[in-house]
Amino acid sequence: MTIDLAALPEDFLWGTATSAYQIEGAVAEDGRSPSIWDIFSHTPGKIDNGDDGDLACDHYHRWRDDIALMRQLGTNAYRLSIAWPRVMPGGDGPVNAKGLDFYDRLIDALLEAGITPSVTLYHWDLPQVLQDRGGWPERDTAHHFASYAAVVAERLGDRVQHWTTLNEPLCSAWIGHLEGRMAPGLADLTAAVRASYHLLLGHGLAVRAIRSAVPDAQVGIVNNLASIEAATDRPEDIAAAHRLDGHTNRWWLDPVHGRGFPADMRQVYGVELPELPGDLETIAEPLDWLGLNYYFPSTVADDPTGPAPRVRTVRRLGVPRTGMDWEVDAAGIERLLLRLTDDYGAGRIYVTENGSAYPDVVRPDGTVDDPERTAYLEQHLAACTSAVRKGVPLAGYFAWSLLDNFEWAYGYDKRFGLVHVDYKTQKRTVKGSGHRYADIIRTHGGRG
Ligand code: NOJ
Repeated sequence: MTIDLAALPEDFLWGTATSAYQIEGAVAEDGRSPSIWDIFSHTPGKIDNGDDGDLACDHYHRWRDDIALMRQLGTNAYRLSIAWPRVMPGGDGPVNAKGLDFYDRLIDALLEAGITPSVTLYHWDLPQVLQDRGGWPERDTAHHFASYAAVVAERLGDRVQHWTTLNEPLCSAWIGHLEGRMAPGLADLTAAVRASYHLLLGHGLAVRAIRSAVPDAQVGIVNNLASIEAATDRPEDIAAAHRLDGHTNRWWLDPVHGRGFPADMRQVYGVELPELPGDLETIAEPLDWLGLNYYFPSTVADDPTGPAPRVRTVRRLGVPRTGMDWEVDAAGIERLLLRLTDDYGAGRIYVTENGSAYPDVVRPDGTVDDPERTAYLEQHLAACTSAVRKGVPLAGYFAWSLLDNFEWAYGYDKRFGLVHVDYKTQKRTVKGSGHRYADIIRTHGGRG
């Protein structure tokens, strides 16, 4: 498939993305304390196959090899996350020098390799000690997050310009506190709504903390937004689609853009927000860019007896699906890029994650052939270039993921990497899709 690469700016960031708990392993090394994901993954029945992140991709020891892989792919950017429990094992306590040193070395090596680091401060691994004190449903957690953000920004800010406060806060709040499928595994609407509020408050406080430590910082937030259609024209289904839009999109975008929390959703949840004067201004601290994580679109119908937001997903027939059973439909990414531009006036957007899982195998000749992932990548990049032609200020694309890794409640079975990982030997093999990504990047750079 040909992709209109000429549409993209010359200084486009071509990246891959990962997160700390999903790849690092070394969970008890150099003073790291357990996070909520260590506890959750070691709770029987929570993770497929009883998997956990204890070893993962052993990136904590193999990071040099992994940077070499990034170079092999020709990427010029890398989105990583910092593990809060490595840096501040006590949650709000003293700084663990060894934890910070790890990221310090990693950043230096990335820069030496010509790869721009994009650092996410929170990719779901809250120190368990803070969960024991109530976690995100408690206001203090937002303040602790800002203190931790300040420490990291002070240490790395002389070399890191791109900062993300939160990754997909909707998963932390809704899946972690309402649906119980992710850490900390609660099913409590009040806790979930309070968590959502304090996550966004923590975001705003962290934006300020980063900016005061790093005056030229480029700060953003990463949301997984949904491209939603009602299953039918019935008014109930159209209203359900609007509720899901509120739950997944507006609840996270509106407050950050100074529009407050959507009134219709406050009513749907019926939970009082733990609001204090000045919070909304903090949450709406201006941002330099918005991050979009996109995987699949949602077709939904009314579910009058279901939990908030009382919506159920409807399977569309005849649409291809990935190994996650997620629909493949690149039109959704274009729609969301246009929405961020048109409805929220985004001045700069990054696709901070996009990718697909398939059950890849290493063939006897040592190669991994993954034509479906390659097609997914091409289709979504083509949709991005089409959005750019329509005026979307897209400045970069980060493929999820550099490596196969710990896919949360699904464990290691779901492989999203452009690089295959054999978990027994930790051998890495660039997949066909990785080679194709390298071609695309080379062609865009005019070097191909
Ligand atoms: C989004 C999350 O940020 C990432 O951690 C996860 O692995 C991917 N989606 C795939 O589900």
